[in-house]
Amino acid sequence: MANELAGKKVALLGAGKMGGIILQALLKSGLLSAKSTCATVAHPERAKALAQKLKVRVGTNNADAVKDADIIVIAVKPQVVEDVVREIRDLVTPRQVIVSVAASVPTSMIEKNLSANVPVVRAMPNTPCLLGSGMTAICKGKHASVQDITLTCHMFNVVGRTVVVDEKHMDAVTALSASGPAYIYIILESLAEAGVKVGLPRDIATLLAAQTALGAARVVLETGDHPALLKDAVTTPAGCTIDAIMELEEGKLRVTLIKAVVKAAQRAKELAFG
Ligand SMILES: NC(=O)c1ccc[n+]([C@@H]2O[C@H](COP(=O)([O-])OP(=O)(O)OC[C@H]3O[C@@H](n4cnc5c(N)ncnc54)[C@H](OP(=O)(O)O)[C@@H]3O)[C@@H](O)[C@H]2O)c1
Repeated sequence: MANELAGKKVALLGAGKMGGIILQALLKSGLLSAKSTCATVAHPERAKALAQKLKVRVGTNNADAVKDADIIVIAVKPQVVEDVVREIRDLVTPRQVIVSVAASVPTSMIEKNLSANVPVVRAMPNTPCLLGSGMTAICKGKHASVQDITLTCHMFNVVGRTVVVDEKHMDAVTALSASGPAYIYIILESLAEAGVKVGLPRDIATLLAAQTALGAARVVLETGDHPALLKDAVTTPAGCTIDAIMELEEGKLRVTLIKAVVKAAQRAKELAFG
């Protein structure tokens, strides 16, 4: 596949947890070179440490960082986005593209704080990006082109899978795949506890639970089969699994998960900035 990022200069503003994951993955994959990449953080001592670690230019001045960039990635906390955009507004031009990963920050909020018709793309990744197993949903703002979306997908494909959605779905994405790792960790923790309850050592129980979740997820992704069909294939008549499923139904696992995602989506909407 062609490297859409070849020759592009990237400035990543806010190289914290998520920004750092994206930056490291892009550098490691060779899609970006250290000399065409720079980043910013809030604290000078963090900037120094990160520059040594990543061998890229890291500072605390956002305006300096964006001057020569083709792509500006905003990865500061949502409540800081508006200030950062105001700092760079007079330097950004429509030949650049802004990619924001901030949760609950609509593209319109960034667009209205910029002086020109700058393309803005919004991306919502999740923490498994750390191991290249992330899920990132991407949507376009008013001035972004198909090429801007392709470029952004190319960036995030380095840390997992990508999907393009309409912006109206971004709160749902936040609730499902961005918060989702937390739900899965709770399920894994509970299954490991269950293993301990039925006599397994904890480390083996955790391994069994996690590898089973990974395997089941891969089967869904790679066969494209409906999860209900795959569940039926595991459920022997009068066997053990159906007894377990009855307990899950009585404990309202399904409705609880549905309600959890609905609540998180409502909260993402409530938190919307701008
Ligand atoms: N973590 C996730 O699971 C996740 C998932 C999807 C999206 N996101 C989004 O990613 C963004 C960052 O989240 P995070 O968890 O990575 O937070 P984080 O670790 O706190 O990172 C934020 C970074 O921004 C830097 N910063 C703060 N003010 C700045 C400024 N004025 N100029 C430049 N840099 C500044 C901080 O610098 P210092 O290091 O010097 O303090 C820090 O490095 C958020 O908008 C969040 O919604 C996160």
